[in-house]
Order: sequence, then structure tokens, then C-alpha cells
Amino acid sequence: MVVGTSSSMLGRAFLLLVLSSATEVHGGPSSSAAPCSLLDYICIRLGPWYVLPNVCVSTLCIDPSCRSAPGLPELAMMATRLTVSNATVTKASIQHALAHAKDGKARKVMRSCLQLYTGAVPRLQWAARSVAAGRYSGVPEVLEAAYEHVASECTDLAGKVALPKENDEFYMMAYVAKAVVEWVQLFG
Ligand SMILES: *[C@@H]1O[C@H](CO)[C@@H](O)[C@H](O)[C@H]1NC(C)=O
Repeated sequence: MVVGTSSSMLGRAFLLLVLSSATEVHGGPSSSAAPCSLLDYICIRLGPWYVLPNVCVSTLCIDPSCRSAPGLPELAMMATRLTVSNATVTKASIQHALAHAKDGKARKVMRSCLQLYTGAVPRLQWAARSVAAGRYSGVPEVLEAAYEHVASECTDLAGKVALPKENDEFYMMAYVAKAVVEWVQLFG
């Protein structure tokens, strides 16, 4: 209990530091009217993960409540949940593409790719439950596998066969979610 309290106070102190340094960077008169949500601040901080702030914001803001996350745990939770629903939709659109595939090569690609998503969805659901319970261990790895070994793998498998656009979109979502969750795990 004592440990929990002091670590959450440390987290708060760190967050204040982040907020005040971000305010310094963006505190010019021209930007004083810009929205200053927690999401914006965290997205500015993801440079070392090679995520541009505007890409980070636009990826997570397909959820209209993106800017009202009250804290880092909620932000990590939102990113992970969005990755689950994104994977589910992508899986469905590959299923649809498989049902409508004209030739054997396309069917083969869609079938293999579908298998990758079918395996990934339960792992991502596990990740979302973990983050909701405040456990981050193993979660960045699951998210990384989702873009490295699912979305990216599908692209490689496809070659010249056109995949549903959701596959590339899912890559981006999993990539941003991994950066956010890892950031929260390290600094939250
Ligand atoms: C999945 O996430 C990407 C990146 O934000 C977005 O462009 C796409 O619309 C999302 N798809 C769904 C179905 O939520």
C-alpha cells in the first residue's frame, strides 16, 4: 500500500515535469490556444519510438474520447483496446476478401493472413485485459508482434496480391499502441 502510494506520487511528479517541460516547448503565444491534453503531451514524447506527434494523435483519435483520458493508465488502456478492435475489423475484412478472392494465389494469401489475425486477436485481448488490470509486462511484446509478425508478415505474403487497406492501418495502430504502452510502462 505504502509502496503503491509512493510510486503513484512519483508518477504524478514525473507527469508534472513532463507537462511543465512540454508547456515550455509549446508555450509560445501562437500555440496558446492549441489543445493541451495528456494525449498531446505523450505524443510529443514518443520521438525515440519513431512516432511523429501528429501521427500518434491522429491514429489514437479515431476514438473521439482520445483527449479526455484522465491519466496514463487510461491512455495505455485506450491504445490497447483500439488495437483489439482494429485487429477484429481487419480480420473481418480479410475474411471478406477471402470469400471474394478470384484466383488461387489470392485465396492462399488471404487464408494465411487470416490465420495470422485469428491467432493475434486473443493475444491482443489478453494484452487489453492486462493493461486494464495495470499489468504491462509482456504487453509491448504482444503489440510489437502484431505489427511485425502479423501486419508486416501479411504484406510480405501478399506480394502483388492486393490486401484490404485495413492491414496497413492496423500496422500503424499496433505500432503507435506499442510506443504508448511502453512509454507508460517505463515512465508512468
Ligand atoms: C484502425 O486504425 C487505423 C489507424 O488509426 C485507422 O486509420 C483505421 O480507421 C482503424 N480502423 C478501424 C476499423 O477502426
